[in-house]
Amino acid sequence: MARKKIAVLTGAGVSAESGIGTFRDNGGLWDRYDPQVVASIQGWYQDRKLLLDFYNMRRAQLRDVRPNAAHRAIAALEEDYDVTVITQNVDNLHERAGSSRIIHLHGELTKVRPEYGVYDETFSEAEVIDIGFEPVHLGDKAPNGSQLRPHIVWFGEAVPKIEKAVEVVSGADILLIVGTSLSVYPAAGLYRYAAPGAPIYIIDPQDVPLHDSRITHIRAVATEGMDRFRELLKNS
Ligand code: APR
Repeated sequence: MARKKIAVLTGAGVSAESGIGTFRDNGGLWDRYDPQVVASIQGWYQDRKLLLDFYNMRRAQLRDVRPNAAHRAIAALEEDYDVTVITQNVDNLHERAGSSRIIHLHGELTKVRPEYGVYDETFSEAEVIDIGFEPVHLGDKAPNGSQLRPHIVWFGEAVPKIEKAVEVVSGADILLIVGTSLSVYPAAGLYRYAAPGAPIYIIDPQDVPLHDSRITHIRAVATEGMDRFRELLKNS
């Protein structure tokens, strides 16, 4: 019998217990930096060095953090289910925990690409360069001669992989949402594409802004919530 499909949408909350701060909790990244300045295409054109330094700092932090039990539990779902992770996170903790099918909606911190390259839904990943945890500086050029920039989807830019994500969510038997405030579109609207009969589980210690009869809110941090999710699956 074909295995059930689970789509797992994650946000910063799944990495919180690894020590990576979220964006909108008290003391979060956007309390300390203005996203329009450090995470928008306008910000890039105004001050490339500021953004290169901001992402160099975040990339270097990634060297010192590890996947947590929630990342590992999401990867372990693959033993019994056909799993696709759709993450808003730019860290590589799902990869390092062993998940094998991951869609990074907002890019990847460990990668850079030419500032002037062809970037659309058919984006040729060939232009993307994996630099691991290393910094990139003003003057570091891509093979096509343009400045290397973080492979991140900034505010004001398109989300080329959203069509693929919609396809995954609409084809899933179960939708699991872990650790996102559901405040940034189009990612926040993905739940609407869940198939009519597909249950939706949301793991978050805070209130969630959705009121839909298909939703089961597991009010817990990601590690504990994943244990409770597995229990609910066993009994469903
Ligand atoms: N376990 C689970 N959820 C948690 C935990 C935890 N330990 N700690 C916090 N959360 C929840 C918060 O309650 C909140 O709902 O995680 C969510 C974090 O929300 P945000 O900080 O807004 O992060 P996210 O939803 O991923 O942001 C989306 O915004 O700035 C952009 O591109 C950025 O991808 C990011 C997008």
